[in-house]
Amino acid sequence: MSIIDKIKAKARENVKTIVLPEGDEPRTVQAAALIRDRGLARPVLLGNIEKINETAANTGTDISGIELIDPIGSPKAAGYAETLYELRKAKGVTMEDASKMVADPMYYAVMMVKSGDADGLVSGAVHTTGDMLRPALQIIKTAPGVKVVSSSFLMDFPNKNIGYDGLLVYSDCVVMPCPTAEELACIAVCAARTAHDLCGVETPKVALLSFSTKGSAKHELVTKVQEATALAHEMAPELILDGELQFDAALIPEIGESKAKGSPVAGHANVLVFPDLQAGNIGYKITQRLGGAEAVAVLQGLAKPCNDLSRGCSVEDIVTTVALTAVQAQSV
Ligand code: ACO
Repeated sequence: MSIIDKIKAKARENVKTIVLPEGDEPRTVQAAALIRDRGLARPVLLGNIEKINETAANTGTDISGIELIDPIGSPKAAGYAETLYELRKAKGVTMEDASKMVADPMYYAVMMVKSGDADGLVSGAVHTTGDMLRPALQIIKTAPGVKVVSSSFLMDFPNKNIGYDGLLVYSDCVVMPCPTAEELACIAVCAARTAHDLCGVETPKVALLSFSTKGSAKHELVTKVQEATALAHEMAPELILDGELQFDAALIPEIGESKAKGSPVAGHANVLVFPDLQAGNIGYKITQRLGGAEAVAVLQGLAKPCNDLSRGCSVEDIVTTVALTAVQAQSV
């Protein structure tokens, strides 16, 4: 069974409510029906009810039994606006702004999660990553003890000899364009937790990647990764974590042995932490397109799970991301 299938099985064990703010979008409507049929979550579709029903009819989708909510005119809207105003008034949000904001399905969905009316949310089939992320960052905020929200890509390879049973976790490929050493350390610790808690990796082995291995090159960018490694050790002394390592030293046992002798990670890493978003985003796409891995992203470090889709996502991608979100919600 693939890691993704294992996660789906776990989602069915304790069914969570996941809100889909892009509720009238054709792939989202079809995904909601599959999620219901497969028992992966209780999906809630947000949007104009007539439009949602029209999309269902146009795509031949039976959405009976799925909760539909129009944020405009919803009996919960006033309470959400009040809460949103309290949370954001110090940032200049007025009561009038808050009322307008909760009419937007993205903010309504975030308020459902914040208020406990939903366990998590998934969107991004229409919205850009930034537009999806901002409401979650502003309102859901980071989990206690976590400095920044970031992401992990679960890279699932057909070759089960790679990483942990065919899985490598890549981080961060979505959120933080240029992390500081402290932020990079936080990303490394969060990625290890994602590998363990979500993916079932018994012993995450975390490599902080660079173009240098153990001082082979000297540059301020290398120094940053070295500092991040030291900080991550301080933040989570129990983790098996090492850096700075080149990609080959992290993954290939003979190269790890020759370039980083005695490292507990070199040659056997299953969590790869990229030094910035350019490297991470390019790295995951190369792995997906040339390496044949299935790639699924999750956000990590939020107080409650919210996940982003690619605008090119398929119906099955949405189903998978909802299942991952539901499993993340099981341990909140
Ligand atoms: N963790 C926690 N909080 C954060 C983070 C973070 N990583 N980033 C921003 N915030 C908070 C800010 O503190 C702020 O909070 P406040 O309003 O309470 O003070 C709030 O979020 C908004 O911050 P802004 O600075 O206004 O947000 P910004 O415009 O910087 O947007 C974003 C943040 C969206 C994450 C931005 O960094 C971004 O666009 N990242 C890249 C996204 C992207 O394009 N990824 C690649 C494509 S995805 C793919 O290929 C799969």
